[in-house]
Order: sequence, then structure tokens, then C-alpha cells
Amino acid sequence: MYHSLLTLITLFLTGLHCFLDKGSVDTKYSRKDVMKMYPNLGKNFIMFPDGESGVKIGYLDPPPGSTKILGMGSKVEDDVTFTLYTRDNRNDGFQLKGYKDLPKNFDKTKKTVFVTHGWMSSGKADTCITIKDGYLNKSDANVFIMDWSPIAGNIFYVIPMLKTKEVGQYYSNILNYLINDLGVDPRDLHLVGHSLGAHISGFAARRVIRGRIGRITGLDPALPGFDPSLTLEGRLNTNDSLFVDIIHTCAGFLGETDPIGHADFYPNGGGPPQPGCSILEILEACSHGRSWKLFAESTTLSPPYMATKCQNFGMVQHGDCDGKDVPMGEPTPKHARGVYYIKTTGEKPFLILNT
Ligand SMILES: *[C@@H]1O[C@H](CO)[C@@H](O)[C@H](O)[C@H]1NC(C)=O
Ligand SMILES: *[C@@H]1O[C@H](CO)[C@@H](O)[C@H](O)[C@H]1NC(C)=O
Repeated sequence: MYHSLLTLITLFLTGLHCFLDKGSVDTKYSRKDVMKMYPNLGKNFIMFPDGESGVKIGYLDPPPGSTKILGMGSKVEDDVTFTLYTRDNRNDGFQLKGYKDLPKNFDKTKKTVFVTHGWMSSGKADTCITIKDGYLNKSDANVFIMDWSPIAGNIFYVIPMLKTKEVGQYYSNILNYLINDLGVDPRDLHLVGHSLGAHISGFAARRVIRGRIGRITGLDPALPGFDPSLTLEGRLNTNDSLFVDIIHTCAGFLGETDPIGHADFYPNGGGPPQPGCSILEILEACSHGRSWKLFAESTTLSPPYMATKCQNFGMVQHGDCDGKDVPMGEPTPKHARGVYYIKTTGEKPFLILNT
């Protein structure tokens, strides 16, 4: 399996090379510039958003000079933590020891949201913090940030990728605890995950024993390695929760292209470069990160910022769609089905308020 994975990743990279050679001539951090500046990187690396505004280099082969693959032996329960934020402690979250010691301010009658970051990121990064702040500004919810940074921070992408199953399995413990022991209604749980965190959310939700999780939002779910036939767990899919909505912003490169949810949103057609992503940063990293920025904004801005339903997937790239409108992001209604186009801007506010 490992071998076929590397083959796939090589294929993926070949595509990426072609794309970058064409598309990044006048960007500040082109792949070629980076390779010239840092000859030790070798060729099999990708640039990835770090969950803030920067770009990090990750490897698809073991990093040059490294003799062992870091992080293979560590225990998931030591590397995954949950921190609860509520309106009583918006900024100083309560970090659980394990997954059972919930503080008094956890109120099971309120909506509960879990936010999970992706590769090279952490629970302290803008991805999680901005989404958490948005929720707490607008609603009196329990917001858990799931942090798996000791694993996600491995610069060799294949390790965190292969560990998504195990991380998801551990993550399911807290979901089962809330549901089975505390009587939380699984339909009141909403898992939000960016990049690899989207697949992890799916893997966790499908291990829920009683009932099904209400909603999973996948923010540009990671593509490299998540060919459905390739990993044992497959990828986030519509069986994982009652409603799965996806925002695609780097389709075909760092994010999934296929509609894999009940409702799939393709801002500006879904692919890179997203508006505003073509000048200062590498196209893919910026575009991949745009998904969570759009979602975070949707937690605070008031609708309507509507996406339009397309009759079929082919129409999504061009945006010539005329189906029924639904809001994208947090306010997406659970009955939304199909593929949607939405136009966004290149800077905050990204979402365009329709009149
Ligand atoms: C949340 O509200 C605070 C205080 O009103 C504000 O400073 C902050 O920008 C808001 N955050 C988000 C993400 O809306
Ligand atoms: C969902 O589960 C059903 C029944 O097990 C299966 O037939 C279907 O292929 C699954 N769908 C996806 C998207 O995996």
C-alpha cells in the first residue's frame, strides 16, 4: 500500500509541476525560486498553508538526510487533545485531560461544535481560533478545538496522512462519551475540519455507536493520498453524518475535486487560484486556506450570501448556474443537496452580500 501511495503522490506531483510551471511565473514564491534557494529540499515537496497566513514546506518523500521517519512510534492519546471554549472562557480554553474530564461550563443542552485543523497546523492556529471566535460571537455554543499538532506537524506528509485513521478513532472516544455517558443528542454535534482534519472528522463520526452525528463540514478536504481506493478508511463521505457539506477552494491540487458531501460548494469554480491568491503567495497554499476563511466569515456575517445550485458538476467551473440559492457555510440548511457555485472576493469580506 505504501508503494502505491508513493506512486500516486508522484503522479499527483507531476500534475502539480506542470501546473506550477505554467501558473506561477510571476508569483513571488514560485516553486522554482524555492528550489533554487533551498537546494536541499529535493523535488518532492509541496507548499502548504500553515493555518495562519504563511506557507510551509512539506515533504512527500522522507526529507533528505533523515534516516528515520519521525513520529511513527508516538501514542495517539498523548498527541491528541481537546480544549473547550464557551462564552465563559472565550479566550482561555479548558484543556481536557484525556476526553472525560469536562468542566462545569460544558452545557449539554447547547449546540456543540468541534474544530479540527489540518497538516502543519495546530489548535492555536488562526484556522481553529477564528472559527471558534466566530461561533462564540454569534451563538452560545460549546466549541471544542481538537489539536493533533504533534502528529500533524510532521513535515513528511505521508505520516500524518496515514495516521488520520488512528487519530479519528481516538477522536471518536469523546463523541461516544458525550452521547453515551452524558446523553448529548448526536444530531446536535457539528464537526468542522480543514484539509486532513476533514477526513479525520469523518473517520471519527463513523465510529459513533449510538445514532449519527448531525453535521460534518469539510473545508477543502485534503486530496493527496485520499484516492478512495487507496486508503483503508477511504475518505470523508455522506455516510459519516446526517449532513455533510463541503467547501472546495483548491480542487484538484491540495483539495478534493469530487463532490463528496450532500452539498458541495465551489467558490469561483472551486480551483486555484482563488481571487487574491495569485500574487504574493503560492497559489495552492493560499487557495487551500481560503476554505476556512470563508467558513469563519460565514459564522459572523449575516446572510444572505447565497450560492447557486448547478444542474451538474460540469457547470460548476463556469458558474453559469441558475438553480435554487442557499447560503454557504455555517447557515447552510441541512436539506441542501447537490453542487453549488458562489462568487467571492479576493479580500475580507470575501463573501458578497446579495441584495
Ligand atoms: C468577536 O467579537 C469581538 C468583540 O466584539 C471582536 O473583537 C472580534 O473581532 C469578533 N471575532 C469574530 C471572529 O467575529
Ligand atoms: C454508504 O453506505 C452504503 C451502505 O453500506 C453503501 O452502499 C454506499 O456506497 C456508501 N456510500 C458512500 C459514499 O460510501
